[in-house]
Amino acid sequence: LRVVLIGPPGSGKGTQAPIIKDEYCLCHLSTGDMLRAAIEAGTDTGKAAKVIMDQGGLVPDDVMVSMIKENLDTPQCQKGFILDGFPRTVVQAQKLDKMLDEDNKKINHVLDFAIDDSLLVRRITGRLVHLASGRSYHKEFFPPKVDMVDDVTGEPLIQRSDDNEEVLKKRLASFHANTKPVLSYYQNKGILSTIDASKSANFVSNNIKAIFLSTL
Ligand code: AP5
Ligand code: ZN
Repeated sequence: LRVVLIGPPGSGKGTQAPIIKDEYCLCHLSTGDMLRAAIEAGTDTGKAAKVIMDQGGLVPDDVMVSMIKENLDTPQCQKGFILDGFPRTVVQAQKLDKMLDEDNKKINHVLDFAIDDSLLVRRITGRLVHLASGRSYHKEFFPPKVDMVDDVTGEPLIQRSDDNEEVLKKRLASFHANTKPVLSYYQNKGILSTIDASKSANFVSNNIKAIFLSTL
């Protein structure tokens, strides 16, 4: 099973990916998490990416494509994968297809996490994350068991530096300009399913499973 999740910031991609991953034994590749790991590690890529991410812009396509390629080639991803946050431009989508073509593989499902922009401010400004695992919580909707502490590791939770209203506006503008066309790209290939991402996390998970089942 090879799945792509596309949706605006805060639509729930990073919340749903670990659920599907466990259920279907797939690897979860979040380009946002990878970039944040590169920032933590202090690499040159991380340093350059931080400036762009804190402004709500997009990291160059070639950097993202090689990052995905390196990770897709690992043994964990051979059975199948969930891409979260990639592809974000039509160029990235075309390069991904080319990469998979060379291995005689293709994407089975692209899930469009559809949600009105107005609902995203509250989700983004209330989010807390555990950087090392990429797990996310929400101050109101999914609070951790202990205030500001990850349930699994007991390590501190943080607020992402791009999770404020001002940067969110730019991330949304970039989603509409650059990533919406990726939805049309996959619609034309007949593999796009739209999900109402404004519903509860449980509803969304069940909807995803139903989509997978209906086309098995
Ligand atoms: P990235 O980390 O991918 O950020 P994003 O796309 O903006 O998406 P988010 O992580 O903000 O949202 P999400 O959908 O995962 O939401 P979540 O599940 O956490 O990318 C960051 C940056 O990196 C980009 O801006 C760009 O600069 C760069 N980048 C990354 N990939 C790139 C690429 N391919 N090309 C170029 N640049 C790239 O949920 C949000 C909150 O809502 C959480 O608190 C959660 O608990 C809560 N929540 C989730 N679901 C529900 C629900 N159903 N009901 C209520 N609350 C919910
Ligand atoms: Zn995410």
